[in-house]
Amino acid sequence: MPILEAVKVSKSYGGVKALIDADFSCEPGEVHALLGENGAGKSTLVKILSGVVRLDSGEVKLRGQSIEVRSPMDATRQGIAAVFQELSLVPNLSVAENIYLGSEPKGRFRFIDFKKMVDDSEKLFSQIGLNISSRTLVRDLPLAQQQLVEIAKAFSRNPDILILDEATSSLGQREVQHLFELVRRFKQGGKSVIFISHRMEEIEQIADRATVFRDARKIEQFKVGEVSNQQIVNWIAGRDVQSTFMGKGDIRQAKPILEVEDLVAGDALKGVTLTVRPGEIMGLAGLQGHGQGEFLLSLFGAYPVTQGKIKLKGAEVVLKSPKDAIQNGVVLVPESRKNGGLLLPRSVRENLALMTLGVRQVLGFINTQKENRAIREATDLLAIKAASAEQAVGGLSGGNQQKVVIAKALLTNASVLLLADPTRGIDIGTKAEIYRLIRRLSDEGKTILIYSTELMELVGLCHRVAVFYEGQVTKVISGDEITEEGIAQAALAMA
Ligand SMILES: Nc1ncnc2c1ncn2[C@@H]1O[C@H](COP(=O)(O)OP(=O)(O)OP(=O)(O)O)[C@@H](O)[C@H]1O
Ligand SMILES: [Mg+2]
Repeated sequence: MPILEAVKVSKSYGGVKALIDADFSCEPGEVHALLGENGAGKSTLVKILSGVVRLDSGEVKLRGQSIEVRSPMDATRQGIAAVFQELSLVPNLSVAENIYLGSEPKGRFRFIDFKKMVDDSEKLFSQIGLNISSRTLVRDLPLAQQQLVEIAKAFSRNPDILILDEATSSLGQREVQHLFELVRRFKQGGKSVIFISHRMEEIEQIADRATVFRDARKIEQFKVGEVSNQQIVNWIAGRDVQSTFMGKGDIRQAKPILEVEDLVAGDALKGVTLTVRPGEIMGLAGLQGHGQGEFLLSLFGAYPVTQGKIKLKGAEVVLKSPKDAIQNGVVLVPESRKNGGLLLPRSVRENLALMTLGVRQVLGFINTQKENRAIREATDLLAIKAASAEQAVGGLSGGNQQKVVIAKALLTNASVLLLADPTRGIDIGTKAEIYRLIRRLSDEGKTILIYSTELMELVGLCHRVAVFYEGQVTKVISGDEITEEGIAQAALAMA
């Protein structure tokens, strides 16, 4: 008997149909994946199952009984715990306080038992492979660790059904493997996991069955391993998707566009030296947290540099703020949408228009036609799924918000693009488009520095890969050396 079912569930947001008569069912002891393009309705389904939004029609059943899930608290009581795509931790509280928010262990006299809170959460963290003090403030943690704290929080509720909505999107391979160990143990106890991810290799590794959604409808349900990858991709996209990567273009032997010498910044960068040419796609690799992210931030003027030189087109520049960077033709696609400068209540058009000031000001007038064209091109290119350009960005699915962040960066027409895990949360069809786009920008002579949690991306895209270790570039690999094993070996050689 299924443990959790959705029967003919429908849900609209205003005029947007997010789910239409969708069926879903999950058995005890299984990991069940939800697949589908950005905006297909996956998050909407799990939000209904976990009491975040109400369904318009249809039914939810737990162990065969029809239930109502009135709120996330109500869901927890019924044994359903979820990690959502948009992290919901409170930045100014410690990780221990976040874990127990809403369910603080009470000690004598009904005071909050802080010691127990700290002990219990540290136990949880070590299980999940997170080496942090439980007194650390959430805001001081990198995105990947925040995601692990959210996962620990969900496990701490001891649920029968655990929902992971893109909970692995900012995790590196090692962290994912660690999490999968926990998940395997969890399901051995007869418990179930509903798992959402755009990374196909994760689905192959951990899921028993999967359900594909497209345009708000359930398309197929299948057993993982019994269906070819190509078939799955076609169900997801509803069309043939071409192979993901294309050949790498030649880089002209032009003068370097970006020269970094002995860059020291905060605790993260301890003397980075790197030279990049126009048109070059330079990957940044290494174990997570060895300075790759901070390197991109410091080139964008968003992480204070204490020592060293940055030269652009041969001239030294001082980048004190993102504004300085943009003026020098350097733009960043940040890792986290929350810090991506999106104005969530504002429309897609307004968000993108902020970046098109260059094209729209002709003799002081705003050239609306030109602006609209630029915006339309960007939204078409990235297949941004919105009811219209006037829809609020906050109402877009997670992947579509990320596409707006990328579109914004592209509209600035910068010559150096810094991409921090740009395809995080983006569906496979659009990923292929983004790879093509990166390749095209490179052919046009733009320089791209890219950091990714997916090694395959670096292998498929980059001309060279700089491997970071403890805040330095310890090796730069190129040509045939750029393989998953080659990068992993270089990253571990120093450890
Ligand atoms: N709060 C909201 N207001 C308006 N529309 C919304 C809201 N939340 C979701 N939608 C719309 O509902 C549809 C389904 O969104 P949902 O978040 O379920 O997609 P998803 O499959 O999780 O996509 P992704 O892979 O990008 O996370 C989308 O068209 C989205 O724009
Ligand atoms: Mg989603």
